[in-house]
Amino acid sequence: MQTQLFIGGQWQAGSTGATIDVHNPATGEQVATVAAGTADDAVAACQAAHEAQKQWAKTAPRERAEVLRRCWSLMMEHQDEIADLIVQEQGKPIADARGEVAYAAEFFRWNSEEAVRIHGSISTAPSGANRIIVHHVPVGVVVIVTPWNFPAAMITRKLAPALAAGNGAVIKPPAETPLTALRVAELMAQAGVPDGLVNVVVAEDPASWFDAAVDHPSTRMVSFTGSTATGRVLLKRSADRVLKTVMELGGNAPFIVFEDADIPAAVEGAMVAKMRHSAETCTAANRFFVHADVADEFAEQFVAAMSKVVIGGGHDDGVTCGPLIDQKAIEKVTGLVDSAVAGGATVALGGQAADRPGHFFAPTVLTGVSPDAEITRSEIFGPVAPLITFTDTDAVIEMANDTEMGLMAYVYTQDLARGLAVSEQLESGMVGLNRGAVSDPAAPFGGMKQSGLGREGASEGIYEFCETQYIATNF
Ligand code: SIN
Repeated sequence: MQTQLFIGGQWQAGSTGATIDVHNPATGEQVATVAAGTADDAVAACQAAHEAQKQWAKTAPRERAEVLRRCWSLMMEHQDEIADLIVQEQGKPIADARGEVAYAAEFFRWNSEEAVRIHGSISTAPSGANRIIVHHVPVGVVVIVTPWNFPAAMITRKLAPALAAGNGAVIKPPAETPLTALRVAELMAQAGVPDGLVNVVVAEDPASWFDAAVDHPSTRMVSFTGSTATGRVLLKRSADRVLKTVMELGGNAPFIVFEDADIPAAVEGAMVAKMRHSAETCTAANRFFVHADVADEFAEQFVAAMSKVVIGGGHDDGVTCGPLIDQKAIEKVTGLVDSAVAGGATVALGGQAADRPGHFFAPTVLTGVSPDAEITRSEIFGPVAPLITFTDTDAVIEMANDTEMGLMAYVYTQDLARGLAVSEQLESGMVGLNRGAVSDPAAPFGGMKQSGLGREGASEGIYEFCETQYIATNF
């Protein structure tokens, strides 16, 4: 497979010839070496995207739709091969990797259907004298910066609507997981995406790469998924050129179990909300608030379910949870668990890094966690579930909202009216009501507060990649 930069439809080394080694986090083994690009390469990619985009913007929506549909079908034809790459560079279990490829490909299919439905309007001004025509045009060149937890899906969730709306793109995949991005780009070229429209440039130095891409006169938008801390930096830098931005940032999801919840269903949902994709998702349940009347019952069943989690490399038999991405992640999760325990929490399961090679943390459940513990304020990004008890509905809503984050929340109750009333009071872009997984290309993904700006997916997603133009006229 290709391991070089993809600029202007050509595979090429970076301008300094630098390379980056890619490792399997489950074994530490080196799996590939890829070319690393510089600021100059970012500029060349923006230029290529600009040239190609001028033509692409003129193509019929139906033509764009058909190219995207072919991207979907080629990705699905290569599902196992791409899943294998994801396992090698990211470590998640093969079943999750296959699921990610299907999820990623679906953004192409969904947006192929949206490409032909970018609606405008025409109306008569209140005076009756003029007509107001509103329509949507592509923004131009979009810079896409993605994380390592979903090496395929976080790219396609941005790229598919960007292309559907008539834009060009320059992608900076993460240094940890560039192989999937390069392979997807190769398949997209095969699907008929014109040369230069999509460019993939792994960065030797992410800061200078980003500066060069933002300063390129053709760049009109930045779409980023990653931590809130990095998002703030990219937002400030994007402000220098008043670029449009979509930011999918960190989460701190509360998972609320009311006393009338179906406990086995809540445990099943909790396992998905916590452990999906090895607990390394921004939507992961980060704080479990369990009503005191059912706290023991929930904890007992949840610990039993967590103790069945099998950690290991993505290709190992029966594995349901892969490694954390690196040693730094292990140290961070260890610090959060230790400080919760020092603050009075009890370790009901696990509690430390797993005693085996690779970056593994033991599935962990902490009970009696203080609502103020540091672990309830930080995005854990690991297989650790802190349980906090509550008795009062207003108080639990207040605790759930007591965070600068607002991406995801989960509510379990058998009283639908109560569930809806609580959901509406949660300051969260997405709520799973008796559901442990909500991600869906047909639904608007995104956060409130410091969890982000804008939405991805659904019909909203494509308009993020458009400018609205108003034409004032009369006939
Ligand atoms: C993320 O963790 O950034 C995305 C999770 C998802 O799409 O479900």
